[in-house]
Amino acid sequence: MPLWTADNRIPLFVFGLTTGVALSAAVQYLFTSLGPERSPNSILDDGQPHPLSTRRQVETAIQRLEREFTITTSMLHNLVKAFMRDMERGLKRDNAVLKMIPSYVVRRPQGDETGTYLALDLGGSNFRVCEVTLSGKGQVRTRQKKFVVSDDLKTGQGTDLFDFIADCVSLSMDEFNLDKKAGLKMGFTFSFPVDQHSINKGVLISWTKGFTAQGVVGEDAVQLLQDAFHRKGLVITITALVNDTVGTLVSQAYLDTSTYLGVILGTGSNAAYVERVENIPKWKGGPTSTGQMIINMEWGAWGQDGIILPTTEYDLRVDRASPNPRQQTYEKMISGLYLGEITRQIMVDLISTGELFSGRRHAALEVRGSFDTAQMSRIERDHSMELTDTRTILEDLYGVKKTTLTDRRLVKRICELIGTRAARLAAVGIASIVTKINKLDGCTVAVDGSVFEHYPHWKDRMTDALRELLGINAEHILLVQARDGSGTGAALIAALAETGSS
Ligand code: BGC
Repeated sequence: MPLWTADNRIPLFVFGLTTGVALSAAVQYLFTSLGPERSPNSILDDGQPHPLSTRRQVETAIQRLEREFTITTSMLHNLVKAFMRDMERGLKRDNAVLKMIPSYVVRRPQGDETGTYLALDLGGSNFRVCEVTLSGKGQVRTRQKKFVVSDDLKTGQGTDLFDFIADCVSLSMDEFNLDKKAGLKMGFTFSFPVDQHSINKGVLISWTKGFTAQGVVGEDAVQLLQDAFHRKGLVITITALVNDTVGTLVSQAYLDTSTYLGVILGTGSNAAYVERVENIPKWKGGPTSTGQMIINMEWGAWGQDGIILPTTEYDLRVDRASPNPRQQTYEKMISGLYLGEITRQIMVDLISTGELFSGRRHAALEVRGSFDTAQMSRIERDHSMELTDTRTILEDLYGVKKTTLTDRRLVKRICELIGTRAARLAAVGIASIVTKINKLDGCTVAVDGSVFEHYPHWKDRMTDALRELLGINAEHILLVQARDGSGTGAALIAALAETGSS
């Protein structure tokens, strides 16, 4: 019996009034910001006497940015075609742009799994240790401890990073009153591109998201961690190596059997989905018990062949300054680690041409990475007449003296353009997958990550793009906020692995 049946799905997706309102507001905003008339909504209408030359300059800058960053409906369609083609390529062969990695997870939990498991979650600036107790009947109890992974650890020696992880596990086990010699089973969520060799063996292909720790690429992440546990005297068995997208999919599927996709839109971005094994020509492992396999797509790498994505000069600058140039192109256009930096690059550019802040430079804004995506969220959420919160951010946090309302509106417009482009591009991936697996009649997409959860209008913008791409079918694609796939999902997969039924 297929595990992800669509029988009991609840297809729903009501395009809310808000979308329509947002759309018409955007159209009006666009119109007024571009139009020659001064209207109360015009970016330039801040009560200041702007010389005609400044007006022209600012309007031209906005128009140029809008041209560069707008993803039209026809672009969306072309991108989906290319994305689907690249999915097929990745399923056929190794070394494709979309890696399409078989995760060795072939079924979802039944709800009757029991036991206490440890789950680790390493994939960004925070590292978590969770104790997950499965008590059957689908019930889960979780305790967790969070640690910050410093930049030094991210970019230093791999052994230091793994020793740090082992120390955190040891500390957490003390706190949770767990026996360090009891041989507890662990699910390890390691959210980087890993060439998976079995359910608990996987070789790191490359680092992403600002990690560069040495001595890890080309090595089995499970073995490195297991060695660190050994050094610290911890008797723990890692029974599952899990990508966060796979964990997200599995933990949501536990609650809703029509879940076929797990997507992360956070610091980084990626997706996993349920594929039929006969559609994976490169899979040499024979049939699986369910005929299915969760594929970790590593979609962040899409576009790194330089062919299809409409990158701008700003994207290229962000890419060049990153620790992994010419890699993860899609991720760098849609995920939290990069959106703020793209925005900052544009601001710096507009300052240098005198179009922003009257050309006055500010040290804090010159620093790479100093403008993070959370500031964009705040600015996009600022609906006050005078954009007062935007002023606080620019003047108090970044030391920009005396911003004008025009400055603030321009900055807000830049955030809107970058945020909208990102959400629309992310929709391309989702539309491609649901089309590829024939789920246009309905399925649930489990989405986790700070950008999806906190960035204003993100879901509406993605929904709009899905509707442009899929028409009425978009109403059957349910985007749900999933939580803690990396903890609960990893523990569930560890439990399945233990019974030999992953
Ligand atoms: C990694 C993926 C991960 C994603 C979200 C990307 O940088 O390559 O493995 O799923 O970030 O955390």
